[in-house]
Amino acid sequence: MISGGSRGLGFALVQHLLARGDNVATFSRSGSAVLDSLAAAHAGRLLAEKFDVTDSRAIGGFLGRIADRFGRIDHCVANAAVAHEGVLATTRDDEIDSMLAVNVRGAIIFVRECVRQMLAAPAGSDRSVTVVSSVVAENGSPGLSVYAATKAALEGFARSLARELGPRGIRVNAIAPGFLETDLSSTLPAEQRARIARRTALGRLGQPEDIVGAVDFLTGKAGGFSTGQVLKVDGGG
Ligand SMILES: NC(=O)c1ccc[n+]([C@@H]2O[C@H](COP(=O)([O-])OP(=O)(O)OC[C@H]3O[C@@H](n4cnc5c(N)ncnc54)[C@H](OP(=O)(O)O)[C@@H]3O)[C@@H](O)[C@H]2O)c1
Repeated sequence: MISGGSRGLGFALVQHLLARGDNVATFSRSGSAVLDSLAAAHAGRLLAEKFDVTDSRAIGGFLGRIADRFGRIDHCVANAAVAHEGVLATTRDDEIDSMLAVNVRGAIIFVRECVRQMLAAPAGSDRSVTVVSSVVAENGSPGLSVYAATKAALEGFARSLARELGPRGIRVNAIAPGFLETDLSSTLPAEQRARIARRTALGRLGQPEDIVGAVDFLTGKAGGFSTGQVLKVDGGG
C-alpha cells in the first residue's frame, strides 16, 4: 500500500513493487494517465483510487476493498506529501496548514489505518511501515523550514512506532531521499538546483528510480532485521 502513487517517487515505487511480484494498492487526489495505463496492464494486481490522504474515512473504506481483493496488507509506504517553498516570513497560514495536514496528520492517519489492519490479520509474513522523509529534516534548507519540520516529525514518529510495533513483528523505518527531479521540486530555481548538484558527491540530483532500491530493501526479506532506522539516499549530499 503506497500513498501518492500517481507520479514521482510514488509512481516509481508502484512500478517497482508490481515488477517484483507484489499486489499493489495506491491512491492520490487526482490520479494520472500513466497510473491508469499501469492498472490496465496489471489487471487484478493494482488497485488505484482517488481521494485525499487527510480523509480517514476514505482510507478506511479503501483498506476494506484492499482486504476483499488482496486479503491483507504486508507493507505500507507513507509517500504522499506537499511542499510550499518560501522563506518563513512570507509563508501563509494556509501553506503551513496544508503541509502539516498532508505530510504529518495525513501520513500518521494513513499509517494508523494500515497498522490497524496489519494487527488484525494473522501474523506470519514480514510486515513493515516505511515513511518517506527527506534529507532536509536533518540537513536543513533555506525556504523549506516548514516542510523540513514535517519530515523531522515523521522521523520521530517512525522511531517511536518501531519500538511500539517491534514486539508485534512489524518493522518501521524512514527513508530520506536527497533532492529528486519530480513535480514536488519543480519550483526550485535553476541556480539552486545547480548548487545542490555541485555539492552532491555524485554531481547530480536524484531520480525517483534512484530511491526504489532502498524501499525494496526496507520492504523485503533483506531488511528483515532493520527497524527504527532513517535510511538516507542522497547521492552523497
Ligand atoms: N522531490 C524531492 O526533491 C523529494 C526529496 C526528498 C523527499 N521527497 C519526498 O518524497 C515523497 C514523494 O515526493 P515526489 O517528489 O514524488 O512528489 P510529487 O511528484 O509531487 O508526488 C506526490 C504524490 O503525492 C500525492 N499527494 C499529494 N498530496 C496528496 C493528498 N493530500 N492526498 C493524497 N495524495 C496526495 C500526489 O498526487 P495528487 O496531487 O493527485 O494528490 C502525488 O501522487 C514525498 O514524501 C516527498 O516529501 C521528495
